[in-house]
Amino acid sequence: MSDLSVELTAPNGRKYTQPTGLFINNEWMASSKGNKITSINPTDESEIASVHAAEPEDVDRAVEAARAAFKGPWRDMPSTERGDLMYKLSQLVEANKEVLATIETWDNGKPYSVALNEDLAEVSGCIKYYAGYADKIHGQVIDTSPAKLAYTIREPIGVCGQIIPWNYPLGMAAWKLGPALACGNTIVMKAAEQTPLSILFFANLIKEAGFPPGVVNILNGHGRIAGAAIAQHPGIDKVAFTGSTATGKEIMKSAATTMKNITLETGGKSPLLVFDDADLDQAVKWAHIGIMSNMGQICTATSRILVQEGVYDKFVEAFKKQVHQTSKIGDPFHDETFQGPQVTKAQYDRVLAYIEAGKSEGAELAMGGEAYKNVGNGKGFFVTPTVFTNVKSTMRVFREEVFGPFVVIVSFKDEEEALEKANDTTYGLGSAVFTKDIVKAHRLARKIEAGMVWINSSQDSDFRIPFGGVKQSGIGRELGEAGLEAYTNKKAVHVNLGTWL
Ligand code: NAI
Ligand code: MG
Repeated sequence: MSDLSVELTAPNGRKYTQPTGLFINNEWMASSKGNKITSINPTDESEIASVHAAEPEDVDRAVEAARAAFKGPWRDMPSTERGDLMYKLSQLVEANKEVLATIETWDNGKPYSVALNEDLAEVSGCIKYYAGYADKIHGQVIDTSPAKLAYTIREPIGVCGQIIPWNYPLGMAAWKLGPALACGNTIVMKAAEQTPLSILFFANLIKEAGFPPGVVNILNGHGRIAGAAIAQHPGIDKVAFTGSTATGKEIMKSAATTMKNITLETGGKSPLLVFDDADLDQAVKWAHIGIMSNMGQICTATSRILVQEGVYDKFVEAFKKQVHQTSKIGDPFHDETFQGPQVTKAQYDRVLAYIEAGKSEGAELAMGGEAYKNVGNGKGFFVTPTVFTNVKSTMRVFREEVFGPFVVIVSFKDEEEALEKANDTTYGLGSAVFTKDIVKAHRLARKIEAGMVWINSSQDSDFRIPFGGVKQSGIGRELGEAGLEAYTNKKAVHVNLGTWL
């Protein structure tokens, strides 16, 4: 057992017990080959802890446990009791939010105040929201004729594989656990190898809340090993994934072997449109949040800002000023920090490579564009917030997802050109429109090819409202009532009441 947890003291002085094993059947286990993943603090590049990395054999064990729980206590548990357990879990998250936010900040690099007040509020809120749905999911009677009673039953799909990313480790887990549990499914979840720690502390809360063994199983492991094993597993009925478009396509292929139900939430290059008639001050502030919060590591980040010619110069100046004043880079545990490090060296290198790409393609570097080494010991994966202007739609920096504090600003003449540029992308996740003209705003909301449109805001997501993409930004929806669709099948029952042969 000693190998399966470690006593840690976080940089903010908080002491806690960090589990390091695989959480299967409500027990901590070692991985079958003993391989480990070492978690790195992106602020100073130090090692935090090593956790067990699942092999395909370990995925098998987790799937067996999930199947047994599905056939056993979970699926047929009265739905109100299922909701009670979920509500209990949401309360335990609330009670442990400081330690969970501490781990999130330490491992991911996001500012502590954000982890605590935004991420953790979202986690407990989302689980509580779906707890309320657990006993309100029901079928319909469909009236066809007096000779027939036809009705539907909304059944859980079964054992669900859930593969989550590192940008909102606990948030993305909650988005997937909430609807899956409310509908009576069981789960094998894999966390991202870049941020393996917080979900393990969360796993103990699942046990404490009283969930039967095997309902939720949580593994760390490499994508190409444990992730691939989940995506291909014949014992898994559904895969839900958030991450890159390239990996989403891989998962779709793997899932095809056994024709699994899938939901995918993938990349984006979301446009934010600013018209001449917009409230410029508000547009600037939201546009800043839209790309610079969470170090730009947001799938819906509005990373392409399109500004009408009449206000273009004014907008660019005001935006640069806003970045300068607000994007304070620093230790994520310090209160005044707005921007921490990128999550890993790989992501840091990726952002720096896109800065080079922008320069070599002839875009104008209006601001930032450098590694930042003035935090603590001079280490860490910090990048200065970067703004490119004079960007053409053919450039890679206009077309590809960077996933960093990196934005391109482009001008447009009129509504037609704005729409053409906004939709000139293989992605279709978020979008934002700034105008005071409500008719124009709603007209654009219909014509923009995206799963979500924010009118006069950006990143204003809410767990009560559906979230997801079109085009290569994904398949299916999470959150809101729509999120339940992804975790139930509608079975049709036809009862013959009088068609006698
Ligand atoms: P990724 O998509 O490869 O990883 C996300 C998750 O998928 C992780 O849990 C990973 O272990 C798993 N995974 C990887 N390969 C797999 C496979 N073959 N089968 C099953 N699971 C697999 O993303 P990565 O490499 O961490 O980041 C690269 C880029 O992806 C980022 O720069 C960003 O552009 C994008 N990304 C988008 C996210 C979003 O919220 N939509 C989140 C994370 C990354
Ligand atoms: Mg880390």
